[in-house]
Amino acid sequence: MLSTAPTKIAFRGVAKSYPSKHSAQTATLALDRLDVEIKTAEIVSVLGPTGCGKSSALNLIAGFETPSTGNVFLDDQVVHGPGPDRAVVFQQASLFPWLSVYDNVTLGVKCRGMSKADYMPRAEHLLEEVGLSSFKHHYPYQLSGGMQQRVQIARALISAPKVLLMDEPFGALDYQTRIFMQELLLTLWLEYKPTVFFITHDVAEAIFISDRVLVMSRRPGRVKLAVDVHAQKPRTADFLSAPEFIELQRELLHAVQQEVQTADAIH
Ligand SMILES: Nc1ncnc2c1ncn2[C@@H]1O[C@H](COP(=O)(O)OP(=O)(O)O)[C@@H](O)[C@H]1O
Ligand SMILES: [Mg+2]
Repeated sequence: MLSTAPTKIAFRGVAKSYPSKHSAQTATLALDRLDVEIKTAEIVSVLGPTGCGKSSALNLIAGFETPSTGNVFLDDQVVHGPGPDRAVVFQQASLFPWLSVYDNVTLGVKCRGMSKADYMPRAEHLLEEVGLSSFKHHYPYQLSGGMQQRVQIARALISAPKVLLMDEPFGALDYQTRIFMQELLLTLWLEYKPTVFFITHDVAEAIFISDRVLVMSRRPGRVKLAVDVHAQKPRTADFLSAPEFIELQRELLHAVQQEVQTADAIH
């Protein structure tokens, strides 16, 4: 089904370098010759050692950064900047501490001119889905880390973005909460069907949520391995012990380990 879906996001010959703060000669080449195509409604996870350019790739899709070479395309249009069609979820919940859960979720769409008649039922529905209906008048400091991330996800989905960009969103959560959030993400995906670009350090998490897992090589980042995950979505915790899962985990752990070790040897 996915293989026939149109391409949503494409990196074509992308390199990204950052100028050095100290000297013009030692720019950091974060990404090099990156070619990746992501289909509409596909969930793609990215694994790789710290500093290999995962966040740089996400920032290019978000339009926060521009490529040094090549282009990033969204629906065959070159990305020139951020837009409401792409929502970003970061590892640290970036909520406004002085706003309630409800106001945090609705602020963005309110600012963009969505009418109350439109955003209110969406917010109520999303808060229900992420299990925070009874916390809508609470403030971020009154919530656990997992709950704060659920607010961030509700805020991201309220505008029904076509693309959901997630940078280690569950990285700071404990194991049980992480599993819960992964299942929640798949449930929400089923309803909203966004194209998801998901960065993680956790091989099991990558397999559990994804249609495809990419492993990036150490800097400058390129894709060194791409594997498909065939199990039907949404998945339950049973998938964690399925033969497909175990086999992919072994293959991916090996690939990631190799990159980390190479990176260690160089530094
Ligand atoms: N804004 C920036 N300015 C300068 N260097 C940066 C910037 N963002 C990232 N880098 C550098 O680019 C490389 C890749 O970083 P990043 O994309 O954050 O990797 P990852 O997310 O895989 O850890 C690193 O060496 C990092 O220090
Ligand atoms: Mg990063």
